[in-house]
Amino acid sequence: MTILAIETSCDETSVAIVRDGRILSNVVSSQVSLHSEYGGVVPELATREHLRNFLPVAHSALAEAKIEPRDIGAVAATQGPGLPNALLVGFKAAQALAYALGKPCLGINHHEAHLYSPWIRGDTADFSAFEPNVSLIVSGGHTILAHVRAELDHEVIGSTLDDAAGECFDKVGKLIGLPYPGGPELDRLAVEGNPFAYDFPRPLLRDQTDDFSFAGLKTSVRYFLQKRPELLNDRQNIRDVCASVQAAIVEVLVTKTMRAAERLRVRCITASGGVTSNRRLRQDLENACRKSGFTLRLAERKFCTDNAAMIAILAERKLLKRPQPVALDMEVEPGMRLV
Ligand code: KG4
Ligand code: ZN
Repeated sequence: MTILAIETSCDETSVAIVRDGRILSNVVSSQVSLHSEYGGVVPELATREHLRNFLPVAHSALAEAKIEPRDIGAVAATQGPGLPNALLVGFKAAQALAYALGKPCLGINHHEAHLYSPWIRGDTADFSAFEPNVSLIVSGGHTILAHVRAELDHEVIGSTLDDAAGECFDKVGKLIGLPYPGGPELDRLAVEGNPFAYDFPRPLLRDQTDDFSFAGLKTSVRYFLQKRPELLNDRQNIRDVCASVQAAIVEVLVTKTMRAAERLRVRCITASGGVTSNRRLRQDLENACRKSGFTLRLAERKFCTDNAAMIAILAERKLLKRPQPVALDMEVEPGMRLV
């Protein structure tokens, strides 16, 4: 079956087409540069851009996949969580298309799509190698640890009590004066910084809980820079602050993920979401998994940030497994949770 999927939960407009586990197209139009001058995503602007970009993106996805609308067997879209009006653009377009074609329409949980995105390799979903795992989902909006017992059988075991890891990267970036989003920029500067230069807190690290907390770390960086503003006048000091903050965030993420995997006796770790692009996180997860003899599946960089391919692949797996509710009478769920 050919599935067309739409993702518009935040600041990426994306349409993908998948057939039998193969991604025929995955077009992503990012709004990052539009929002950067405001230091964060402006919901009204995001909605306007989705409305403006949706049809060109959908046309490109169909053309790249070399299919016509009549070839589509099912439509899927992100139902939540996300910005309410941004979600509406993609979800209502999906419902209208499904209605016009007389085909089923599926509402997909954005986080659940991230959760299974590490099983996409190149342009193919490879679930033949699936094994029970502990999965870390780290993005700008959420930090989640899930125990995935089998395909489509998962349970959230921990999440952030306050800020998400990506939010912490971005807010610290703002304190340092980096452009939005701070995460990728901080990652770049940290490469030449000394991660041991400054000792920032590792919140909840010693605690046996699977939950996270990053607000305190951000606040401690704020107080630290208020006390020593001169550090920001020197490029090497800035790199050292970046490397030290990054080391604190990554140590918490890696330690808690490994601890949960050992406790739950799974031998596989997966990671996904925007922050999984972070070089230090990828490296430290690789080292930790090698040391413990665990299999590691990191989402490929192009599937870390928001994209419709992961929505389409999950929709396909759901359709293969059991009949799915048709979303023509469903509404978006901006506060949708992964359970
Ligand atoms: O998954 P995503 O694209 O959108 C959400 O669903 O939130 O994640 C975006 C987040 C932002 O906070 C961004 O700063 C962070 O991912 N991010 C990074 C890196 N690349 C993106 N954080 C640290 N290092 C990176 N290389
Ligand atoms: Zn996301």
